[in-house]
Amino acid sequence: MVELSDIEIRSVCLDTSVRSREKVDQEIADVEAITNKHLSEPYSIYVYRFFINNWPDLCLQAFHDGKLVGNIISKVEPHRNARVRGYIGMLSVENEYRGLGIAKKLISESIMLMISKYKCDEITLETEVINKKALKLYENFGFIRIKRLFRYYMNRHDAYRLVLPVTEKSTVCSSQLPELENAVEALY
Ligand SMILES: CC(C)(COP(=O)(O)OP(=O)(O)OC[C@H]1O[C@@H](n2cnc3c(N)ncnc32)[C@H](O)[C@@H]1OP(=O)(O)O)[C@@H](O)C(=O)NCCC(=O)NCCS
Repeated sequence: MVELSDIEIRSVCLDTSVRSREKVDQEIADVEAITNKHLSEPYSIYVYRFFINNWPDLCLQAFHDGKLVGNIISKVEPHRNARVRGYIGMLSVENEYRGLGIAKKLISESIMLMISKYKCDEITLETEVINKKALKLYENFGFIRIKRLFRYYMNRHDAYRLVLPVTEKSTVCSSQLPELENAVEALY
């Protein structure tokens, strides 16, 4: 039986000096395939490229015996030039690997990186109102529901926006905060 300790987590590698361009492209195609398979919302290759090219370290993959079985894709950007906001864009785990704690591990590593490396003040995400499993998963990390977004998804389902406050800034209205210094913008 597969256990969580058999699962290897690592981020995508886009460095063509250590691997071929074909391997890099294949890795991005695999991430796109697993995500499209499990999320109701269809995303174009441009969305994937935007996330992965700008924040390859925040595209974490879970492997079992070399096979991709789960992944999480996140980004970090300034919010209203007052806060550093992390955002979890996509999360999926293959059916036969669910319930092992892979999603918890992917979320936990992603949050750690967004806080320690990117100094995020808060982390946000959206999920379907009917996705009880995902809501429980994120709320166990301390995420709280801050907004209900009417017919947010193309399948016409509503979404909840969730936020995980990290620093004091997350609790202060952005108009009351000083401008961010050295805010890191997306490169591509
Ligand atoms: C949501 C999803 C990523 C969970 O992946 P997973 O690896 O099975 O999750 P984990 O094993 O890490 O479970 C973590 C937590 O999720 C919740 N959870 C998992 N299965 C559940 C179920 N059947 N019912 C309710 N909650 C459940 C529990 O809180 C669980 O924690 P616990 O074991 O301490 O109770 C996976 O089901 C999936 O890919 N779903 C389709 C895509 C999706 O919904 N993505 C998230 C939307 S952004």
